[in-house]
Amino acid sequence: KHPFEVNASGHLEIGGIDAMELAQKYGTPLYVYDVGIIRRNARAFVETFERLGAKAQVAYASKAFSAVAMVEVAKQEKLSLDVVSEGELYTAIQAGFPTEKIHLHGNNKSRAELEMAIEKEIGCIVVDNFYDIELIGEILEKEDKQIDVLMRVTPGIESKTHKYIMTGNEDSKFGFNLANGQADQGFNLLHNHTRIRFKGIHCHIGSQIFETDRFVVAVDALFKQLEKWKEAHGFVPEVLNLGGGFGIRYTSNDEPLPYEHYVESIYAEVVKQSEKLDIPVPEIWIEPGRSIVGNAAITLYTIGSFKDIPGIREYVSIDGGMSDNLRPALYEAKYEAVIADRPEAKQEKTVSIAGKCCESGDMLIWDLPVPEINPGDILAVFATGAYGYSMANNYNRFGRPAVVFAENGKEKLVIKRETYEDVVKNDLSYLS
Ligand code: LLP
Repeated sequence: KHPFEVNASGHLEIGGIDAMELAQKYGTPLYVYDVGIIRRNARAFVETFERLGAKAQVAYASKAFSAVAMVEVAKQEKLSLDVVSEGELYTAIQAGFPTEKIHLHGNNKSRAELEMAIEKEIGCIVVDNFYDIELIGEILEKEDKQIDVLMRVTPGIESKTHKYIMTGNEDSKFGFNLANGQADQGFNLLHNHTRIRFKGIHCHIGSQIFETDRFVVAVDALFKQLEKWKEAHGFVPEVLNLGGGFGIRYTSNDEPLPYEHYVESIYAEVVKQSEKLDIPVPEIWIEPGRSIVGNAAITLYTIGSFKDIPGIREYVSIDGGMSDNLRPALYEAKYEAVIADRPEAKQEKTVSIAGKCCESGDMLIWDLPVPEINPGDILAVFATGAYGYSMANNYNRFGRPAVVFAENGKEKLVIKRETYEDVVKNDLSYLS
């Protein structure tokens, strides 16, 4: 089930703190992370590689939740960091993250982004397309620098997931396609580049994947390509990056595997294929985002209005919605939730939880079983730690919620709630 306890008062507890107290103290909507769970998730990946004796980097995909406090925890847990923008890179630098462990992604990296990455001497740039290679080359020349680079390839692997979060299939905006020779062309540019140190290849086959064999298939696809490059050019990769995408439990329909299994399967296949190709086992990098932070947070909302349509449905509205969690509206993502002061109360009926945005599609949860509920009750939605706050927005001019980190009975506000002054701070009058 969800990794949270019920305390002596029968209330939901997170990081050792009563969810009702948190709602009272910080207001709602409120994101609360149990930092202990983040650490546990991170360690499952890191320690499995260690146990196997594999050279590896576990790069937290900060797009899932980027914030100074989160980057600090990633640093403590000896993670590397995957950033996809100047904003995420800036956040990492603000948090004092070691730049040599930062990897930059993006299918349209701007000159400014690349300049910042090169100036800060980050650990690696993952090139996504020909324009990337050209720009990086130009900047390195101008700055008289060198940098490590991986090539992102698109292996043409379909993963069973929502089409908006499919990324490894052939018809994708990301990476160099393996099938049509693009990757070979990219290789020719990178391999003998005077300033780019070409270290190996990257692929990300999609998100919320539950089967280890998808990753095994990805490893095989990469090695098929590597075999060509070894034969033709004697290329031996130092790094193989398998991306992220490890699935988590949102609802009882999701049955994720322990993260150790993914690491073990990937490692075993990389070892096997390396032996076959007669090369040293390359360093393995992965980029988990959701699987590090997803199940570590809950969102607390206050229940407000009710609308009963007898025989059809009862709508129960909360004080947030698609402005703090876009995933149900964007991907029809499903969530589970409880009433925070009686999570184990007998369920009496089924209601549908509506957000407060002016949009019919702003439905957080359809058909949620609940006990008797009233306005003022606190609803706790599980598994909102990934792509929740990071995709929050100001639709209807709602301010983004606050974020609290809790661990071992202590809590700390790590992102302040946006005020209305914040919401209008970039507005300028037309008339004065
Ligand atoms: N690496 C690369 C290159 C990626 O494109 C992604 C996700 C990740 C790593 C991390 O994937 P994760 O381990 O978090 O599944 N907003 C969507 C997810 C978009 C993911 C895009 N790329 C959602 O809310 O489900």
